[in-house]
Amino acid sequence: TPPFSTDEDGYMTCENVRIRDIQNDMDTSPMYIYSKEQLVNNYKAYEEALKGLPSIIGYAIKANNNLRIVEILKDLGSGAVLVSGNELRVAVKAGMDMTKTVFNGNGKTYQELLYAVKCGCLINIDSEFDLEHIVDAAKEVKKTANVLIRINPNVDPEVHPYVSTGLAGSKFGIRNSHLKWFLERIKEEDVLSLVGVHCHLGSTIKKVDIFKDAAEIMLGFINDIRSEGFDTLKYLNIGGGLGIDYERIGEHIPRPIDLINTIRPQLTEAGLTIIVEPGRSMVGNIAVFVSEVIGVKTSGSKNFIVTDGSMAELIRPSLYDAYQFICLTQPGGSIETFDIVGPVCESADFLGKNRTMPTPVEGSGLAVMDAGAYCYVMASNYNMKPRPAEILVDGDEWRIIRRAETFDDMMSLYDR
Ligand code: LLP
Repeated sequence: TPPFSTDEDGYMTCENVRIRDIQNDMDTSPMYIYSKEQLVNNYKAYEEALKGLPSIIGYAIKANNNLRIVEILKDLGSGAVLVSGNELRVAVKAGMDMTKTVFNGNGKTYQELLYAVKCGCLINIDSEFDLEHIVDAAKEVKKTANVLIRINPNVDPEVHPYVSTGLAGSKFGIRNSHLKWFLERIKEEDVLSLVGVHCHLGSTIKKVDIFKDAAEIMLGFINDIRSEGFDTLKYLNIGGGLGIDYERIGEHIPRPIDLINTIRPQLTEAGLTIIVEPGRSMVGNIAVFVSEVIGVKTSGSKNFIVTDGSMAELIRPSLYDAYQFICLTQPGGSIETFDIVGPVCESADFLGKNRTMPTPVEGSGLAVMDAGAYCYVMASNYNMKPRPAEILVDGDEWRIIRRAETFDDMMSLYDR
């Protein structure tokens, strides 16, 4: 059985544990519940796909920064990609091998760069000013910085504009026509060693052909850079971005092996170590966001399920109009169509719209599926809602890996 299933009595399970049992034992709601088995399976899928290619799996910590999750990935052999100094600190805390980490970003601060150079992670050059900041940081730390250049292959990933990142005119990456300038500048500075090129097309990508086009374009850049006399190139970083089956209708979503096999000829031709940066496809389907139904109501001709979970804990539906599958964690009544909403004070606060599902009773458990990526990490305290607890299930056992925030936690930041 898959890690998230329904048992013969109609209760949703995570591995060998009924989610309703966890809900009964917890004194806070809502919460995130993670399956360790699913996480391990996802990592193994990448490992398997990359067989025969020198490679680094750089898990994108932004998708889910829970230290216990990062530790599990580290134990499996994963590296990490980071987008802030604090994410780097999480990677360090988890004991990650710094030679398998990449520091990305269009706005890395000088302090963050000092720390990154000290740690010895790979650093992406994003712009002219970023290059100068890295040079200054490397000189101050008196250590060579191993850098990659982030290039925009200008391939349209055909996704929501908020998660499309690799087009010319994106706020990330260098101006391609200025590549020569970057190469000259790098040659002038002994503290920089150019070890690779990077691109990231966007997120929720469902067509792997797009990666093929990008890999082809990146090969062109690699050849240009080599012909400028750089023999230090070691890495081709193709970024992350693989979509997952949020609809849960068995739609064919390419798996890691489909992605890698599509670009295997290009990867082999590059003769470099491949870096992949999966976030969503590593952790998206490892969690459910579980809340409790406060009540059911009708307004106009619309039926609403009102739960204690909201856009404060899970903003993707409100922010991107994203679809995540929703079901009850226990048996329900007659089948009706509902909007599933939270208690937050605006109409943008919904988890799902027009969902046909069994009618819950008050107190029923409700699960939003595929809530492992970009859900907890994007939670806020809007309406003074505390960040929810995170629970890890491993076989028959479950434990709280990060407790819920409390009112006192929120008050603890004041001056008196
Ligand atoms: N590498 C870079 C440079 C990135 O910017 C990202 C994601 C990744 C890797 C990982 O991409 P993934 O494999 O997860 O698609 N909050 C949005 C997604 C933002 C993605 C940002 N960058 C959402 O909830 O859909």
